[in-house]
Amino acid sequence: MQIDKVIENVLNEQIYYEFKSAFAYLSLATALGKTHYAGFENWMRKQYEEELEHAKKLYDYIEERQGSVRLTNIEIPQYDITTPLEAFKIAYELEIENTKHIHGVYALAVKNNDYPTQTFLHWYINEQTEEEKNCQDYIALLTAAKDCEGSLLMLDHEAKKRA
Ligand SMILES: [Fe+2]
Ligand SMILES: [Fe+2]
Repeated sequence: MQIDKVIENVLNEQIYYEFKSAFAYLSLATALGKTHYAGFENWMRKQYEEELEHAKKLYDYIEERQGSVRLTNIEIPQYDITTPLEAFKIAYELEIENTKHIHGVYALAVKNNDYPTQTFLHWYINEQTEEEKNCQDYIALLTAAKDCEGSLLMLDHEAKKRA
C-alpha cells in the first residue's frame, strides 16, 4: 500500500533530522580533533557514520512504500568546545531532540493506522533509548574524571576502540 502523504512528509523531515544530527556529530569530531582527545574524535566520527545510516534507512523505506524522497539543505553547526564532556552534553541534547521527533512521527503513524511505519519505527525508538544512554554514561564518567587527566586519557583510549 502506497504511503500516505502526511507520513511521507514527516519521514522526509526525519531524514533531515538524521542528516542534521550526523553533521552535528562530525562537527563535534572536528572540534575534538583540535584537542589531544583523539579517541573521542574517533567516537564522534563513528556516530556521524551511524546517523548517516539512520537517514539512509529512512530513504530506503520511503522508496519501498512508493513514496518520494525529498532532500533539503543541512546547516552544519560549529561548536566552540575544548573537552569531551562539553561534546557529550551537546550530543545528549541533540539526542533528546531527535527522540521527540521520532516519537512525533510514530504518533502520526498510529493516528493514520499506518502499521508498517509503526513497525519500521520500532528500531528507531530503541536506537534513541540506546543513544541517550550512551551519552548519559559518558557524561557521568567524564564528570567523575573531570580534573584527573589520567582518567580522561583512559576514557579517551576506550573511545578510540569504537569501530
Ligand atoms: Fe539517528
Ligand atoms: Fe542519534
